Amino acid sequence: MLAVRGVHTYYGNIRALGGVDLDVHPGEIVALIGANGAGKSTLMMTICGSPRARQGQIIFDGRDITGMTTHEIARLRIAQSPEGRRIFARMSVLENLQMGSVVAGVQHFDEDLERVFKLFPRLKERLNQRGGTLSGGEQQMLAIARALMARPRLLLLDEPSLGLAPLIVKQIFDAIRELNRSEGLTVFIVEQNAYHALKLAHRGYVMVNGQITLSGPSKELISREEVRAAYLEGAH
Ligand SMILES: Nc1ncnc2c1ncn2[C@@H]1O[C@H](COP(=O)(O)OP(=O)(O)OP(=O)(O)O)[C@@H](O)[C@H]1O
Ligand SMILES: [Mg+2]
Repeated sequence: MLAVRGVHTYYGNIRALGGVDLDVHPGEIVALIGANGAGKSTLMMTICGSPRARQGQIIFDGRDITGMTTHEIARLRIAQSPEGRRIFARMSVLENLQMGSVVAGVQHFDEDLERVFKLFPRLKERLNQRGGTLSGGEQQMLAIARALMARPRLLLLDEPSLGLAPLIVKQIFDAIRELNRSEGLTVFIVEQNAYHALKLAHRGYVMVNGQITLSGPSKELISREEVRAAYLEGAH
């Protein structure tokens, strides 16, 4: 479904990605783990078209999207829940969800709204509250719900567990697992929380300094000594 081939991305003269190859197949959950500054968010943003890849190709559904604008890419129903949530703080929960639904069209709006409320009942109780006044966990739920309102064929999640209490992290990861199981939703997830991400995902990739150093089935990665030592120390 998604094929990343030899992608290089720069910020000015600084190279953030140095030839990344990665695949996401339909119906899969794929996790990308790596230390701070490894280039995980850069890869996710490059897939969405900003920043642009300077070299290499990104193929979605057999179509080369490398040169497309972020808007054109969103219209292919690749939806992103970016790092740091980036919800619309002054808009209500409902308005945020309406923004998310723009690319999906209005005809499914009510149905899609019910679907995200089922996943995150908390949002239904806070429909008219302004996004900026939600708790951190609620904002994360809203960011994911907004991405789901686009009826994504590929859902990109950047650090959905960041800064959240274990119980909320569990709720969010359960929701992602359930969407994948019941609807076959394809998910690409970037996580600091390597243990949770690998437990959730079917396959995983490890990124170091803008390059993929390891990949394989999650179960295999979890049991590898170099992964345990670098990313799972202290996890249980
Ligand atoms: N807008 C930018 N301008 C210049 N450099 C940037 C920019 N965004 C990211 N970088 C640099 O690119 C590198 C990769 O950053 P990126 O945000 O992709 O890492 P990450 O793996 O997501 O890290 P984290 O786990 O901390 O979120 C870092 O060295 C970072 O400082
Ligand atoms: Mg990041």
